[in-house]
Amino acid sequence: MTRFPLHNAPQWVEEFGSPLYVYDAQTISAQYQRIANAFDPNISLGIHYACKALNNINVLKLLRSLGAGLDAVSIGEVRLGLRAGFAPEEILFSPNGVGMQEIREAAQLGVQINIDNLETLEEFANEFGNSVPVCVRINPHIMAGGNAKISVGHIDSKFGISIHQVRHLHRIVNTMGLHVHGLHMHTGSDILDIDAFMRGATLLMDLAHDFKELSYIDFGSGFKVGYRPDENTTDIEQFGAKMSERFRDFCMEYGRDLKLIFEPGKFLVSESGIFLTTVNSTKTTPSTVFAQVNSGFNHFPRPMLYDAYHHIENVTNPDGEPRIYTVVGYICETDTFGYDLKIAEVRNGDVLAFHNAGAYCSTMASNYNSRVRPAEVMLINGQPQLIKAREEFEDLMHGQIELDAFEPKNETTLEELMMTEG
Ligand code: LLP
Repeated sequence: MTRFPLHNAPQWVEEFGSPLYVYDAQTISAQYQRIANAFDPNISLGIHYACKALNNINVLKLLRSLGAGLDAVSIGEVRLGLRAGFAPEEILFSPNGVGMQEIREAAQLGVQINIDNLETLEEFANEFGNSVPVCVRINPHIMAGGNAKISVGHIDSKFGISIHQVRHLHRIVNTMGLHVHGLHMHTGSDILDIDAFMRGATLLMDLAHDFKELSYIDFGSGFKVGYRPDENTTDIEQFGAKMSERFRDFCMEYGRDLKLIFEPGKFLVSESGIFLTTVNSTKTTPSTVFAQVNSGFNHFPRPMLYDAYHHIENVTNPDGEPRIYTVVGYICETDTFGYDLKIAEVRNGDVLAFHNAGAYCSTMASNYNSRVRPAEVMLINGQPQLIKAREEFEDLMHGQIELDAFEPKNETTLEELMMTEG
């Protein structure tokens, strides 16, 4: 759960408006240091930030300044990374389901390419041969992750080249003379079990012996963070120690030291963020008391998409008598943030803080119901700084082309028509 103090939250809302995302730079740095320190310092380690979790450019710049690389899944994320100052070779582009056009563009920008489909790999080989090194994403067929929607390494998943297709993979690599310099996997998000990581990692390291030109192995991410108070999280220190030992042994057998890469999103930013909303009204029905806030699944869709729990507290009335609320939004669909939550008495105008708002919240926001997206603030040494302006009505119109055809002046009335026809 979010750890930084929230007593100033009502002031931030007063200064920057509501609803509001607030991220703490110090928490992001601390999480980065935690994961970087969890591994044997003698191993060459790469922490690639998965910027789909939170793509504000200042977050990317902060992580770059700490020494991170970047995990990008679209050409947009690649460009964002370059804009944030990452060198092209520090960016691994791992798309899924894109055509050669997007891969070509990324190759031209000089970033590392990760391919997760044998057909695409053949196309890539036809175009680039061994002139551009490539990484391949393997699907190890492991079911891991918080729930089915965020598990991506199982047999029914669209991601990766099946571990059972490795023979075919070698055929393509050898026949086309590809230079495979990296192996990659990623099995899901919210994975608590260290053994699940180790199982996948072992499979990938076993496979690596048959690729003689590797520079790195990227084991993806999926480290679990705590959404509930006192919830268990991936023990990153224990995992780092285990993984370091296994990887050292692997490098000895391989005959060369390779780079060990992970690409965390949630672990780095989830707990760094809170989302502040204002209560528009409470409403008592025969079954519950609703607290209705000035937001909805347009801004904060995780609870509705994944049944995700986000801890909610009343920061304007923290000492109020706790009551049971169903917290909902203002969108014209069911947009429940949480059922039966025990929250200090909620009054109109109170500010409710949603925890774990750093990862996959703002980046998954939309303009549904023609509502603008919130502003974003970053606490730097505790001081709030605006890092994204609140959208305005004109942002909803951006890119829309208003045709003349439907302007009232062009509407010919029946009367006018009869007059012209004489
Ligand atoms: N690498 C790859 C290739 C990924 O697809 C992802 C996440 C990550 C790294 C980062 O995983 P993380 O450390 O954040 O667990 N929207 C969902 C999560 C989707 C994750 C998509 N891929 C959620 O809010 O739970």
